Amino acid sequence: MDFLELARSRYSVRDYDARPVEQDKIDRILEAARVAPTGANRQPQRLYVLRSEDALGRIRAATRMAFNAPLVIIVCACVEEAWHNQRETLMRGTTCDTYNVAEMDASIVCDHMQLAATELGLGTLWVRGYDTQAILDAFEFPEGVVPICILDVGYPSETAHPSKMHADRKPLSETVVEW
Ligand SMILES: Cc1cc2nc3c(=O)[nH]c(=O)nc-3n(C[C@H](O)[C@H](O)[C@H](O)COP(=O)(O)O)c2cc1C
Repeated sequence: MDFLELARSRYSVRDYDARPVEQDKIDRILEAARVAPTGANRQPQRLYVLRSEDALGRIRAATRMAFNAPLVIIVCACVEEAWHNQRETLMRGTTCDTYNVAEMDASIVCDHMQLAATELGLGTLWVRGYDTQAILDAFEFPEGVVPICILDVGYPSETAHPSKMHADRKPLSETVVEW
């Protein structure tokens, strides 16, 4: 599969088969995360791999967005470890007083994992629509480690299908400006 075929074949899966994800596939997904680029190569990501009944029960109680995925990865970042610039406020119009790339780094890591999982025939869902406090209450992350997003992973159920949004992409003329 070439890259565009792979990217097009990915869609958000919200219903999974009970079949567990094999260890070699998990290893490959995590290796894709490991080689992802990060700002100044700081590698602030911290990945919490939830597979046990206990951990999956806790994440499902904290957010309905874990659906019935047999594998959930909480993508966190050690924010202080991420590249940041104290002197310059680049986030114009926001209340940020520093510029920190932790979210970007974690997002690149998550995207690498999502596409690696797709290549392995797995379905995924990128999740940010959760209550951060509920996740913090459910798991004891070390000080300074912040959940950025969640990746649900598993084999799609027999009836899983792309939502209408999957086909709804703006034309390049609306999102690309040539200067
Ligand atoms: C940053 C981000 C956050 C998202 N959060 C959620 C979420 O909380 N719940 C959900 O069901 N889907 C979530 N999604 C999935 C998007 O809704 C989905 O990617 C988009 O509608 C396009 O559909 P497709 O992934 O099937 O192509 C999220 C995706 C991204 C990239």
